[in-house]
Amino acid sequence: MSADLLVVGSGFFGLTVAERVAEDLGLNVTVIDQRSHVGGNAYSAPEPETGIEVHQYGAHLFHTSNEPVWEYVNRFTSFTNYQHRVYSTHKGEVYPLPINLGTINQFFRAAYSPSEARALIAEQAREVSASGVSNLEEKAISLIGRPLYEAFIRDYTAKQWQTPVDQLPADIISRLPVRYTYDNRYFNDTHEGLPVDGYTAWIERMADHPRINVVLSTDYFDESQPFNKKSTVGQIPIVYTGPVDRYFGYEGGALSWRTLDFEQEVLNTGDYQGIAVMNYPDSSVPYTRIHEFRHFHPERDYYPTDKTVVVREFSRFATRDDEPYYPVNTPGDRQSLLGYREMQDAEPDNVWFGGRLGTYQYLDMHMAIGSALSLYSNKIKPYFQR
Ligand code: FDA
Repeated sequence: MSADLLVVGSGFFGLTVAERVAEDLGLNVTVIDQRSHVGGNAYSAPEPETGIEVHQYGAHLFHTSNEPVWEYVNRFTSFTNYQHRVYSTHKGEVYPLPINLGTINQFFRAAYSPSEARALIAEQAREVSASGVSNLEEKAISLIGRPLYEAFIRDYTAKQWQTPVDQLPADIISRLPVRYTYDNRYFNDTHEGLPVDGYTAWIERMADHPRINVVLSTDYFDESQPFNKKSTVGQIPIVYTGPVDRYFGYEGGALSWRTLDFEQEVLNTGDYQGIAVMNYPDSSVPYTRIHEFRHFHPERDYYPTDKTVVVREFSRFATRDDEPYYPVNTPGDRQSLLGYREMQDAEPDNVWFGGRLGTYQYLDMHMAIGSALSLYSNKIKPYFQR
């Protein structure tokens, strides 16, 4: 099958474009991925001993308020009614997150009303004036006051960045949500849930089209394979969702990322922590959180009752050989990115950059899908119909 479009990367961005071009325009699409599976970072697989679905690149919770995206994703999967909630173990005691009236009353051993709690936090936050903040610590104190900051934010953030918080720039956080109700639902979106048959079944349905040809374990920069950069740019329209700096041979500098290390274990208990995600904000614990994957699907009655899968998550700066997860976005990165944008403008008009790696920004799944749908309608479809 000869290809009308080459898509580099089979994550949600690349597959959304591929599916639209194949289904809506009736054109042939080749999708390549350097990994041995489709789905990018949303890929999941059953843990072999227990059958419990584990999200291989970190926990993925689907949520959106974008109606066209919700309508689109429901073509490929239905969703459970899972609602995400997170707890935090601080000094041997478990608190609800995000910080809410329950957290505040438990922490201060009080029974504050919403307005009393609001007044207390405002008073504590006055220690630092919002206009005079010079680092992340001062910013956080100006938002939620010192006691809650020191318990739930300081050491957790230091672990995430492997840097003391008073040495981190203030702009890493713009806000720290505090809810003056007992609502501890993590997301506020209209729609939330997990794909009933798992992420991989959803992703495979997107790719399962007679006009889509998926080629795995194929690196776009490997010139020994036919779909490489040298032989395709200018020859065939391309949607590139790999790292933008790599596309340009790091000519404008390497963009910096944080990565995660995962330590997975099967335990001989039916329930380890009673919830999918438990945060560990204290410096005495080396990991940031523990995921217990069975809790994402309480409806799955085929999961074993005497075994469970837990994954401890550690955070650190990525080297070039690591999986890039979260853009660090230093001033130097932002400068490099401007240079890369100019280089992109100089590329042929049928090379489109997209997705989290191609644009160097954190995107939730619904954002990656939404921006792929926009790129398709605004640029790719008009290009093929001109
Ligand atoms: P994605 O990274 O998924 O796909 C890019 C693909 O390109 C990869 O498969 C890669 O192998 C391939 N590729 C790169 N270079 C290549 C090359 N040279 N040649 C061939 N292939 C190449 N979102 C959300 O909504 N809820 C959540 O709970 C989470 N949780 C979460 C946790 C963690 C740890 C991370 C890092 C991310 C999330 N996300 C999330 C975000 C979610 O993962 C993200 O929205 C999608 O992965 C974006 O899809 P993309 O297609 O843009 O990238």
